[in-house]
Amino acid sequence: MHPVGLVVAAKLLASFHTILFVGTAAVLYLVYRHLSDRDAVEGIATLPGFFIFNVIPFFRTRYDFLNWGFHVTGHSVFQFRLLRNHVIVISGEQARGDFLNAKGLDLQEGFRVLSGALPFVQGITSDLRQRRIAQIYKRLAHIQKTDHLTLLVPDILGDACQVMTSWGTAGIFDPFEKIYELVFQTTVRCLTATEIADDRALVARLKLLYDNVDSGTTPSSVLFPYFPSFAMLRKLRATKAIYDIVVAAVQVRKQTGQTQNDSLQVLLDAGDDPTMIVGFIMGLLIAGARSTGTTAGWLVAFLGCHPQWQTTALAEARGLVSRHGSAPMVLAAAKPGLSLSEITEILSTVPLAAWEEETPVLDALIRETLRIAQPHVAMRRNVGPELYLDGNLVPTGAFVVCPFSTVHLDPELYPDPWKFDPSRPPAKGDHSYIGWGGGRVNCLGTRLAKVEMKLIVSLLLLTFEFTTVDTSGHMANPPPQPNWNDILTCRPAGKFYSLKYSMRQAS
Ligand code: HEM
Repeated sequence: MHPVGLVVAAKLLASFHTILFVGTAAVLYLVYRHLSDRDAVEGIATLPGFFIFNVIPFFRTRYDFLNWGFHVTGHSVFQFRLLRNHVIVISGEQARGDFLNAKGLDLQEGFRVLSGALPFVQGITSDLRQRRIAQIYKRLAHIQKTDHLTLLVPDILGDACQVMTSWGTAGIFDPFEKIYELVFQTTVRCLTATEIADDRALVARLKLLYDNVDSGTTPSSVLFPYFPSFAMLRKLRATKAIYDIVVAAVQVRKQTGQTQNDSLQVLLDAGDDPTMIVGFIMGLLIAGARSTGTTAGWLVAFLGCHPQWQTTALAEARGLVSRHGSAPMVLAAAKPGLSLSEITEILSTVPLAAWEEETPVLDALIRETLRIAQPHVAMRRNVGPELYLDGNLVPTGAFVVCPFSTVHLDPELYPDPWKFDPSRPPAKGDHSYIGWGGGRVNCLGTRLAKVEMKLIVSLLLLTFEFTTVDTSGHMANPPPQPNWNDILTCRPAGKFYSLKYSMRQAS
């Protein structure tokens, strides 16, 4: 090409680039103005910056992002856009109380759109009608009735014994991994079918598949659920495989006609259809195992660096056995060097009521663990009509989130909030502790989760001495700090801790 032609072409190209750049900027600005202004409620502070930049922090560093929001707006309530969604973040006693009690705020809708941390199968675990949800909750209540839960006590202990036996007499492991694994096994036992729970390899596969669902839960797969990204496809594949495992268990039970003493039997006996059964198992298993596993992992990690609490909890477990274990068993308990299975057998004779009513130390430990190590952000959608939270308008269709950190890590309510101190007095004010929910939404698996954790921790305490150590091999001091940006497991950021354990010697 002629040099003059080149100059002209270069100029044209340059102006084309300029036009493209200016045009793109103008379009982005218009989209920004359109979306950021759309739905914004007058009188509520809005996050500064381009809304696109909210997406990654909301999913990857949620705790920091929401704290930054409170800080940068200088308000206890603020709003921002999460692509198409208008989100209002609340804190403060009055707003929290209004939030927890508001009739129009829907948990399922909030969770479905903003969290995505469940394997969603249309009509089975998501988009359920109220009647179906009520039915699932009714069955969950049934399996936590005293007679069913009583039957589960030896089963949970039996599973825990088997898993702990595989640990050997001494060793070292990651408590957030291994205790979670153990709780996954016991939760499978409590909520699914004997055929699944008895098959350790299948349980391990199921856990791996749920891990894949978790890792497939990315900003893109949550906000664009129909876009076939790699994450979305991984999540889909894992969900399908979980679905197949559950369906196969239901079919085998129906075909063989054998009855078992398990949750699947409760559902079958109640005449539930397969869709309902699969929805119950798929949804509740992960909701239950994840929160119970994370809490139990942290509880054990905290006990491992607070020897005084370990001693107190051990004394409580021994007291329970001596008061309630059947006579020969109690005699046996006095003998030195009991095996893991003997301790398991002894604990199985302690009645359910004693586990629930005579364990104030375990209750305090669980309560304090939940306060510091539960990075939950309650999410709701206003399904209408518009409502007010502490005087702030929430339009129909808007999402509202309430970070638990604004309650449980508030130094006004809990002085020195990161300190693990189960002897703290209760905080003053309404809804100043929401570890199991509050207002209209309370955890419907509390009874099961508490019993499961108490049994596992007591068996661990009676069998092993353990210490939480850092990478130098010394007792972690300061203790590990939960990472609230890790919304699923709350694992400590950047540092690695292990649990060093050995079987108790005869005392
Ligand atoms: C340590 C274990 C657990 C903790 C800390 C926990 C905590 C919570 C919290 C805080 C909520 C309220 C969420 C919100 O307001 O956004 C909740 C709700 C719920 N939990 Fe749990 N949970 C645990 C275990 C379980 C288990 C084992 C199950 C079932 C087997 C379960 C079933 C449910 C259900 C169904 C709801 C929703 C209630 C509703 O829609 O009204 N949870 N849980």
